[in-house]
Amino acid sequence: MLVTAATGDAIRRAAQILREGGVVAFPTETVYGLGANALDASAVARIFEIKRRPSFDPLIVHVVDDTMLQRVAQPISPRARILVDRFWPGPLTLILRRTIEIPMIVTAGLETVAVRMPSHPVPHALLLACDVPIAAPSANRFGGLSPTRAEHVVRALGESVDLILDGGPAPLGIESTIVTLEPAPALLRPGALAVEEIEAVIGPLQREIAGETRLAPGRLPQHYAPRTPLHLAARPVPTSDRGRAGYLGFAHAPEGYAAVRILSSSGNLHESAARFFEALHELDALGLERIDAEPLPERGLGLAMMDRLRRAEGDMARRSK
Ligand code: TXA
Ligand code: MG
Repeated sequence: MLVTAATGDAIRRAAQILREGGVVAFPTETVYGLGANALDASAVARIFEIKRRPSFDPLIVHVVDDTMLQRVAQPISPRARILVDRFWPGPLTLILRRTIEIPMIVTAGLETVAVRMPSHPVPHALLLACDVPIAAPSANRFGGLSPTRAEHVVRALGESVDLILDGGPAPLGIESTIVTLEPAPALLRPGALAVEEIEAVIGPLQREIAGETRLAPGRLPQHYAPRTPLHLAARPVPTSDRGRAGYLGFAHAPEGYAAVRILSSSGNLHESAARFFEALHELDALGLERIDAEPLPERGLGLAMMDRLRRAEGDMARRSK
């Protein structure tokens, strides 16, 4: 069986597959990841093949403890230590200097490596069982919607993966927040850890300029796109234009749409993030002409969701050129 419930036995089998150079999909607290042994260049190459991911897009390496961190990254700065102590395990990815043990394919040739320590019990147990750091991007095809359920992984990647561990829906539902501390503290990708929480600990972060890919290579504008054209609807579209469109709403449902998904009827940003990719997957599967998305407030996790929506909309503009 390709998909299996993430029991202790299944996790041990997955660890064995990883040690033998295989590729395993697994849940994390953010989204599902597609993992390989981060120290095995040819295993990691399979991730790029399966995702059809350009090789200039570096991967995130997952570690379980300080010892494993030291295998992948040079000794970290005092400021990085503060963030690690405060936010790990959890949805924060840090850009650190890599060790020579990390193959170039993982970092796309960079001297830095993206590292995070997941808090979800499945990757925790998997990392302990295989005892190697796991390189894992989100388990979707390059540029597509991130998976928050095992079914999403099956649909996007199917038979190309050696094993898919089903651990139920990913509780946070949106990717980790990526931060670099050098040359200056900067936010490279808004994500499941609110930037305000990080700034409360280490002070202001430089924000990435929209569409700027210099700081975070691989952050191309067309990431996270559904196949259906997506439009950020700051103002209500005319009722006559709604009949064949879907609506992704933050808190309220307008009339006349063919399909509507509301992220949180109480307007809660955490609840919205947990539903976000799932709602997009559902609308995308309906063969609609267009998805109108209501803008979210750009604070807390709203910043990450708006980032993904803008990128999805950017993809539509690119395709219609
Ligand atoms: O929540 C998450 O972070 C999920 C789960 C599976 O952990 N993973 C994830 O990985 O979102 P992925 O591959 O979709 O995003 C990785 C991004 C790259 O696109 C790039 O922007 C950034 O991390 N990145 C990786 N290494 C980097 C580096 N050395 N310098 C700057 N950015 C880097
Ligand atoms: Mg991704």
